[in-house]
Amino acid sequence: MSRGTEAGLLDQPKPQSVYKHAILDQYAIRFATMTAKWLRPKRSVLFDGFAGRGRFDNGQAASAEHMMLHAQKMKNSTQIDVFLVEQRRADWQRLDEVADEYRARGVNVTTRHGSCEDQLDELYEYAAGASLFLFLDPCGAVLPFDTLRPLLQKRGDRPRTEFLMNFSADLIRRAGGQYKKGQLELGGVAQADRVCGGTWWREVALQAHLSSGGELWETAAEAVAVEYAKRLTAGTHFDWAVAPVRRQVHHQPVYFLIFLTSDPHGFWVFGVSAAKAREKWLEFVGPDEDELEGMLFNTVEDQLEREHAAAIRTITDNLRALCTDGAQHAVVQRWSEIFGDVYGEAKETAFTAALRQLVKDGEIEFVSKGPKPHKHVIKAGPAIKS
Ligand SMILES: C[S@@+](CC[C@H](N)C(=O)[O-])C[C@H]1O[C@@H](n2cnc3c(N)ncnc32)[C@H](O)[C@@H]1O
Repeated sequence: MSRGTEAGLLDQPKPQSVYKHAILDQYAIRFATMTAKWLRPKRSVLFDGFAGRGRFDNGQAASAEHMMLHAQKMKNSTQIDVFLVEQRRADWQRLDEVADEYRARGVNVTTRHGSCEDQLDELYEYAAGASLFLFLDPCGAVLPFDTLRPLLQKRGDRPRTEFLMNFSADLIRRAGGQYKKGQLELGGVAQADRVCGGTWWREVALQAHLSSGGELWETAAEAVAVEYAKRLTAGTHFDWAVAPVRRQVHHQPVYFLIFLTSDPHGFWVFGVSAAKAREKWLEFVGPDEDELEGMLFNTVEDQLEREHAAAIRTITDNLRALCTDGAQHAVVQRWSEIFGDVYGEAKETAFTAALRQLVKDGEIEFVSKGPKPHKHVIKAGPAIKS
């Protein structure tokens, strides 16, 4: 079924894996330590439901090994237990061998051979009393909506639960094309119906496709991803962020990760982790050939510098707008207004640079200064008030 796997996705890192793994590398460990801190015992469970082999054939860590590495690293302060599922027997066997190395070092790693769906009840029992991070990274369609939504409703607000899932833009492009041509028998439309929990996505995709000129399906994929995230979380304690992975800020996304959490800290830390991951991904893919030809950017470094400067300008405007009401703002609660369009692309240093200048110019002042940038409380300064 999995064209990505057959095309060698598990042999050595491919661009899309570099981004995902960098996010896991940055974020999963912070999730586990931040959320387990309040629990007794301090325990967090990291779940990889479509785990693959755990390690690339060239020896680099894949998603499952990133989780195991975190668990090993934090062993003395936080208990991070790792739960891995893989359907393909040969890949599961390899995964289990990698897991054995970590078990021998005292890390709790559960590996299951089979379908992700079939292990969810066991996972939820296993994670009782611990915080839980679910990474769902299939090669194609993610779990059906009707399977996923009850998972959001099953656990309370605490201990924390978060989801990071790969939403297949490719599926929406393919299914959208089939729907437009009336090719309902080809299977893509029915598969997208299952993922999206109904037929609503068909018109959302078609309208976005037509209003962008009727040639490409990228805007359709983004419109469906956003509406999907809204429907999945409606009436639950979760909120969502769609992290589009773009080659250039003004380009169409290559693919989407959907992140679900009920905690503003989660959004803040995830957003800045995603920005760092994007840098790593861009360094891996190298300069964009079109941009090179137009001499816009000579190197990825140039591009990143320009994007960082633009992010500071955007965040500066957003902070000014936020503080015009004269109220006090805990910045972590205002992650969405502060980062706005550059969420997931701007680094935390863009925020600190913007805030530092605004404070220097008297436009914003600290109500209280936190130990970390997202812990500050701010309000309009004398230059704005006067
Ligand atoms: C994109 S690969 C995973 C890559 C891995 N998460 C990583 O980033 O290193 C998807 C994997 O899911 C497996 N798979 C496909 N359907 C599955 C299912 N229903 N349950 C569990 N695993 C499945 C495939 O065999 C494949 O190894």
